[in-house]
Amino acid sequence: MRTGNMASKVKNTSSAEAGFVDSPTISRRLNAILRVSTGIMLISFILFTGYTVISKYRDTVQRMRSLASILAINSEAPLVFSDKPSAEENLHSLSAIAEVSSAGIVKSNGDTLANYAPPPNLAQNLPGTAQDLLHKVFTGRLRLEQSVLAPNHQHPVTDPGRQIIGQVWIEADLTGAWLELSAVLGVFALVMLGIYGLGRTLNNRLAYSVVKPLEELAQTALEIGQNRNYDRRVQLHPSIIELNTVVYGFNQMLEQIQSRDEELQNRRDLLEQYNEELKDFSYIVSHDLRAPMINVQGFVNELGLSLEELRKILAPVMELIPEQKKTAVLEILDDDIPTSTRFITGGVAKMNQLLSGILKISRLGRQELNICLVDTQRLVNDNIESIKYQSDQARAKFQVQPLPQIETDAYLLAQIIANLLSNAVKYLDPKRPGTIEIWADEQNDQFRFFVKDNGLGISEQDQKKVFEMFRRGNNHTVEGEGVGLNYVKSAIKRLGGTISLESTAGQGSVFSFTLPKG
Ligand SMILES: Nc1ncnc2c1ncn2[C@@H]1O[C@H](COP(=O)(O)OP(=O)(O)OP(=O)(O)O)[C@@H](O)[C@H]1O
Ligand SMILES: [Mg+2]
Repeated sequence: MRTGNMASKVKNTSSAEAGFVDSPTISRRLNAILRVSTGIMLISFILFTGYTVISKYRDTVQRMRSLASILAINSEAPLVFSDKPSAEENLHSLSAIAEVSSAGIVKSNGDTLANYAPPPNLAQNLPGTAQDLLHKVFTGRLRLEQSVLAPNHQHPVTDPGRQIIGQVWIEADLTGAWLELSAVLGVFALVMLGIYGLGRTLNNRLAYSVVKPLEELAQTALEIGQNRNYDRRVQLHPSIIELNTVVYGFNQMLEQIQSRDEELQNRRDLLEQYNEELKDFSYIVSHDLRAPMINVQGFVNELGLSLEELRKILAPVMELIPEQKKTAVLEILDDDIPTSTRFITGGVAKMNQLLSGILKISRLGRQELNICLVDTQRLVNDNIESIKYQSDQARAKFQVQPLPQIETDAYLLAQIIANLLSNAVKYLDPKRPGTIEIWADEQNDQFRFFVKDNGLGISEQDQKKVFEMFRRGNNHTVEGEGVGLNYVKSAIKRLGGTISLESTAGQGSVFSFTLPKG
């Protein structure tokens, strides 16, 4: 059946992830119901047939036995007086009983007193062929014999010592009864066959009109779930209103998802475009602002030199200036101007650092990736070597597990590792020796790298913001710009991975990131 194939297809597609592999389909359930009801009907039929045959046989035996008893009583006098006509008359009364095929009254010496055979119209009241056939099928003869005792007029029935004066016998032909019974059972069997046929047809109709559309719906839902192809629609089945309502609702839902998906896609495109423009803008701004910044720094230096010159020029005349004015001039020359230039220099340096951060991140999206096989073990060891001074100062120990080789951009991966390791050292707790562990796990088609430290940790509310640009945690006084983790996150994204953080304030942090194998 086609629906059966569809069902197995649905089952295969959904398989383990859905977790209902062993659940039977509706078609299978319907077939099972049909099989069980057919079985019950068959058993009932067999039991009914058995019961009817046995009770019919018992009834007939009972009836024949009564007939033989009556015949035996009525035959007492004819036997005593060897009255053949009375005996024949007695036997003739049996013609009213259709089953009786022959009977006889026999004397005690074995001679037959009278015999009975039914009249031809009674014997042939069944079509010959059917009767012949039934004769062959059933050995349908039943013979009963009964002794006839000498009459005792004082105790006609209870006297056990009465003499046997003869015997009566009756033979019954059950063919007619069996034929009647077979007709009833045949009709019954036909009705059951009809019910079974009706059940089967209904089952197939149900499978076609309900199960098939349901399976179609399930299959489409699964395919959409897997391919996210919201163009698909399920066909309406005009025969069943409830099913149509479901299908109609499903199609409506798909339409809404599709239009939202398109809207989202448009917004994503727009965002990507804005993002690109923003990156270009930040690149241009940070790049172009550097020149004026250098100029400002240059002129501040120039200002310092000019101040020195001015001091030298003013030195001879200072003695001539009244004391009050001299103090004011010296305050300007030695305090106000140097303090201002110091502030300007500090501001420019800070501005420069920020611009470098922005420039670094905006460059990230612009630079070409150079994918090659990278030995991450070596990369990590080189990095540990390069921060040996800082880690010794912080009493930090590194524990590095064997790390894999991976196809990626060596420069970006080096930057990621450098930032994570320098943070791990930088934010160790000065009150205890530091331990920094590095390891990697293989997960399907990607590696996950871990950097764990037992440092200051990051509070829950800070965990959300540390990956943002220029944002820093507030549990330490260490210098920094708040650029490193933002750069790390962007670089990992650029390489096709993700970063996550687990941290407990006061205990330490685990940064982990994934990278595709290649
Ligand atoms: N291993 C760590 N343990 C505890 N806090 C950390 C750790 N790594 C990062 N942080 C917190 O996250 C903040 C952001 O880190 P990020 O590397 O972006 O900037 P930074 O280290 O402050 O400055 P820089 O730009 O020089 O790296 C840090 O200021 C610090 O509060
Ligand atoms: Mg940092």
